[in-house]
Amino acid sequence: MDWGMESRMARIIRPRSRRGVMLAVDHGYFMGPTRSLERPSETIGPLVDHCDSLMLTRGVLRTSVPASSAVPVVLRVSGGSSIVGADLSDEAITTGMAEAVRLNASAVAMSIFVGAAHEHQTLVSLGRLVDEAEAAGMPVLAVTAVGKELEKRDARYLSLACRIAAEFGAHMVKTYHCEGFERVVESCPVPIIVAGGPKVPEREALELVRSSVDAGAAGVDMGRNIWQSDRPVAMIRAVRSIVHDDASVDEAVASLGAPA
Ligand code: R5P
Repeated sequence: MDWGMESRMARIIRPRSRRGVMLAVDHGYFMGPTRSLERPSETIGPLVDHCDSLMLTRGVLRTSVPASSAVPVVLRVSGGSSIVGADLSDEAITTGMAEAVRLNASAVAMSIFVGAAHEHQTLVSLGRLVDEAEAAGMPVLAVTAVGKELEKRDARYLSLACRIAAEFGAHMVKTYHCEGFERVVESCPVPIIVAGGPKVPEREALELVRSSVDAGAAGVDMGRNIWQSDRPVAMIRAVRSIVHDDASVDEAVASLGAPA
């Protein structure tokens, strides 16, 4: 791995724990103004010092994160469909590599839709993005998206999707936690980061973080379970305590304190 690539990777997966906490705020690219992310700067502001990296689009980066912030950026560079459109898998690259470099991104992220109508298009886009990213020393995070077909999130499917992403050259893969998640991690030769998913009770979200890292995940990319919580700062700190300091679920829950 060349110096630039390695240096960028180290901003996302921190060398001390070999894990990272990514704060996901890219939902608007296909979901519009998601609850609690209506005014992105107000959501991001209190949380930005507690994450290792921020996953977002260039639009939210430019408008809602001060350039003086030192937070490493994972720039979403794919899109082209929405929750009200015909087919969520119909994505392509929407932000070029020169722009990602200009915005001082530490990685670029795109979705692949294995088994969906536009599987081929998204996989070929991943290959091309990796070619461009390698030339720029820019890590690529492939997101194994399932669109509205949440039932796809089992170990067999996710192992397939993660492995394909790694074979195409992704440097990291973001996927979902599932029953038997160890199998997904074992068969993927690059670090796996776990997406949070829809809001659930805090203990449940922290259990997901604990069992993801126990299975070998290199961290989490969590959004709604942090910023839709009544106490987002306490919640991201609790997530960090598991990811970086190996706190138990009970310890992390206790650290939340009394409900807001
Ligand atoms: C997919 O890449 C999404 O846009 C989010 O980044 C991802 O689902 C993580 O956010 P959440 O924890 O809210 O599911």
